[in-house]
Amino acid sequence: MTKVESNSHQDTFEAGIEYAKLLSPGNVVGLTGELGSGKTVFVKGICKYFNVDEDVISPTFILVNQYTGTIHPDKSPGEINHFDLYRIQSKEELGTIDIFSYVSQNSICLIEWPEIVMEILPQIRIVNFTHSGNENRRYIYY
Ligand SMILES: Nc1ncnc2c1ncn2[C@@H]1O[C@H](COP(=O)(O)OP(=O)(O)OP(=O)(O)O)[C@@H](O)[C@H]1O
Ligand SMILES: [Mg+2]
Repeated sequence: MTKVESNSHQDTFEAGIEYAKLLSPGNVVGLTGELGSGKTVFVKGICKYFNVDEDVISPTFILVNQYTGTIHPDKSPGEINHFDLYRIQSKEELGTIDIFSYVSQNSICLIEWPEIVMEILPQIRIVNFTHSGNENRRYIYY
């Protein structure tokens, strides 16, 4: 297990850039941890590494944002699907988005608040964020 100590927004952004180097098309990542623990900042770092041009913002109300990034080993483009399932309370509500249709060999899926889909996506890898100590300190585990 890797443990990263972050003492700033920038540290978490850079941790996202480093983590992105471990990712390949087809991967599904769940980002767990309380409100404000740095999940979206980390996603911004991942997207930076993959040269995403669009603004990366939390899709809290629309559930999923899609970006285009250089996710393939030869830097050819694919999709980055960024989910925020905070508002989803049940599997029935999830029925409004077909999560499986986003998982493919031409995409990477990044899912904030993934608890509701964890058991239906067995390939999911988890990155956990915790607040600790002072106001700006976070620990990131993966
Ligand atoms: N070490 C740190 N790492 C990341 N963010 C930090 C850190 N210290 C302070 N912050 C601030 O904390 C906030 C983290 O917000 P972010 O949107 O990434 O959280 P989140 O985990 O996605 O929350 P939510 O569950 O609401 O989506 C930002 O305002 C950021 O500037
Ligand atoms: Mg967020």
